[in-house]
Amino acid sequence: MDQDRLLRELSEFLRIPSVSTLPVHNTDCRAAAEWVAADLRRLGAREVEFLGSETHPVVWGKGPEVPGAPTLVIYGHYDVQPPDPLAEWTTPPFAPTVRDGRIYARGSADDKGQVFCLLKAIAASSPPPVNFRYLIEGEEEYGSKVLFDLLKREPQRVRADAVLVADMSYVAAGWPAVYTTLRGLCYAEITVRTSKTDLHSGEYGGAAPNAHEELCRLLTRLKGEDGRITIPGFYAAVKRPSRAELAAWKKLPFNEKDFLNKRVQGKGLVGLKQHSVLERLWALPTFEIHGILGGFTGQGAKTVIPAEATAKVSMRLVPNQKLKTVERQLAAAVKRLAPKHVTASVRFLHGADPAQITLEHPSFKLLDQAFRKVTGRGTVPARAGGSIPVVPALASAGAPVILTGIGLPDDRLHAPNEKLELKQLWDGIEVFRTFYELLGSLESGVRSRG
Ligand code: BES
Ligand code: MN
Ligand code: MN
Repeated sequence: MDQDRLLRELSEFLRIPSVSTLPVHNTDCRAAAEWVAADLRRLGAREVEFLGSETHPVVWGKGPEVPGAPTLVIYGHYDVQPPDPLAEWTTPPFAPTVRDGRIYARGSADDKGQVFCLLKAIAASSPPPVNFRYLIEGEEEYGSKVLFDLLKREPQRVRADAVLVADMSYVAAGWPAVYTTLRGLCYAEITVRTSKTDLHSGEYGGAAPNAHEELCRLLTRLKGEDGRITIPGFYAAVKRPSRAELAAWKKLPFNEKDFLNKRVQGKGLVGLKQHSVLERLWALPTFEIHGILGGFTGQGAKTVIPAEATAKVSMRLVPNQKLKTVERQLAAAVKRLAPKHVTASVRFLHGADPAQITLEHPSFKLLDQAFRKVTGRGTVPARAGGSIPVVPALASAGAPVILTGIGLPDDRLHAPNEKLELKQLWDGIEVFRTFYELLGSLESGVRSRG
């Protein structure tokens, strides 16, 4: 492997600020799509196309192709989350820098570095006996609408023997993983209005309602101090993990104290104390406030009663919760909790159902073998706290969706100083190269069982 050349190529990809949620980066998203398309063509892919959007297209491609060989869809995303707060980055987010055996940049682990890994693993062997298909999207971090619509129109795009998704991490250094669930997501804005305009807090204070105060009260009524979400019916569909699964988690290299001290780096954990931390992260739903807009937050002091306040919130959903049901439950709860002197409304931005994957198909065994051969340890089954909205749709044509990845839990996804360990990348290229070769040697009779 020519590691210097690979690092130069990866840096080119990482330098493009393809932030999908911010319209000022539309041309950058397009540029990242072009980078992916060019790389697919270098790999020998044909029919490379941009589908569904000019600015955030799904990059589709086919090949190298081997008649009669198994078909593998490679999924990934070239978009990234906003890089702020910029001041906390040691080197700028879109100036990829190698330090201490790691590459630092927004997107290094989520997901450009991992897409790069899957593609370079194809290039690393003379064409593996697999029919590759590519679905590399540009809106994963904003709900995947373009790809959802595409798969609704053209479900045959995911007809395959397997779909490979590398957008997650090992459960711990040295412990590769394969994931059996992803949490879903319901992202919303809750807006509270209390008067026609802002009011002087001396002239009106004491008698006029305050939008921020009303919003805060409403939010704290949706989730109690004990961490329990009080939206009526919210937990009704939640399915507890089996005893066997809970027992298996106890054997994973996960320590609650280390999680607090090394990862969260805070003073204490919160949430439903009767459940283990892993259960809270993987198998229970959440309610988070991401930010509150409105009122006076500028320099200095201004004495005003804000007329409007908006909270951006999201709920992570677990099997067997349904996005549509949770949307209704939240809207009803907000309506019921808002006092008469308040106008409260909810706007839903995007969302996804939770995903559940069974590890029965023979390709999971091959992934396990590939990791074992390269890293010395096979894959442990785990669950993911995060979401990849389109996974249920990727599974809709019946192919098993293999959720795995080469990141590490401390890669700081979505946060300042995101990084990818180069050792993980070089091992990853070997792992997936081995996986493709093993998959290519699967006989067609074995493939369709699963
Ligand atoms: N790669 C992550 C999902 C992920 C993170 C899975 C950590 C497992 C562990 C993905 O890019 C992501 O961040 N998804 C968003 C989706 C949302 C914006 C619709 C998420 O989970 O917040
Ligand atoms: Mn991702
Ligand atoms: Mn992400």
